Amino acid sequence: MQARYWKSVMKQTGSGLLVMGVAIWISSCSTPEKLDVGDQRVFRISHADSAGRMFSEIWTGPKLESLGMMEISSDYFDRAMHTSDSRFSSVAFSRLQEQFQLKRGEDAVLLNCFDDYQGVLSLNDINRYDLRLATNIKLGFGSHKPDWLNPLLIVVPNGKHPPFQERFLTANIRELKFIRLNDYYAPLQKIAGHSPEARKGLKVFKNNCLFCHSLKGRGGNKGSRLIETYGFLKDADRKKFLGDFKNFHHKDSTQDVEQFVTQEKLEWVMDYLKNFRKQIDG
Ligand code: HEC
Repeated sequence: MQARYWKSVMKQTGSGLLVMGVAIWISSCSTPEKLDVGDQRVFRISHADSAGRMFSEIWTGPKLESLGMMEISSDYFDRAMHTSDSRFSSVAFSRLQEQFQLKRGEDAVLLNCFDDYQGVLSLNDINRYDLRLATNIKLGFGSHKPDWLNPLLIVVPNGKHPPFQERFLTANIRELKFIRLNDYYAPLQKIAGHSPEARKGLKVFKNNCLFCHSLKGRGGNKGSRLIETYGFLKDADRKKFLGDFKNFHHKDSTQDVEQFVTQEKLEWVMDYLKNFRKQIDG
């Protein structure tokens, strides 16, 4: 979840007042209304031809919806966002995928977002969990809209149960790019080495952190580069990392990443980043 909500509301007092105004207006109505997030932006879809040349197409919300739109809700989204009763206008991702002939063994889609978030989903997961792309979002009564919560958004439909991870909550998408997972993760894989903890750490990092904390040119830059900020070699370094994580991503914060990871998982992440650090330092 790209929760940056209060921070941004505080920053843009204007829109904060607007949100409050809307909330007051809504609560003064007798019938419950919902906060409509139906921004119609264009987005780009990029894919390679058989010679490997990249092509991009510009798509709009209505063009995507013409593939077959459905109104759905998502318990998965509501749980992660601490909301209830959110509704989405959505299209099955598989319908979009059918529009493209993938010729170079692409098995994933990279999701580049307006706010420097970079999501990535395997086509396997997209099909297994029937993931959907929302072109319009209606938040439940009384909910506040974080600034990043704009279409396109990945939605897990009810009845499907992927692991509870940051991975399945990408919003604000400006580009979908078909890629090969092996190519994408190759620079990160090498660094894990043979340590089982570091390998598990990489997995946790890939599913929950990389989208905002980039490594080796992969992932987004919404958050800082952790590898440049922390040491990971000494106990004190690890304590500081854990403390800062809890301060920033704790359960009651609007950047609640803690809900996706246990202490043990964070230890593995640090083992992975330690290996990384060692290689940089030589
Ligand atoms: C949605 C984006 C996002 C995700 C996902 C995310 N972070 Fe962050 N993280 C941030 C932002 C933004 C900050 C604020 C400070 C900054 O710019 O790094 C931050 C701060 C931190 C900090 C404090 C460091 C500092 O510079 O203030 C740590 C440690 C951290 N994150 C670790 C993690 C770990 C570990 C994960 C995965 C389990 C993770 N984060 C997932 C966006 C994210």
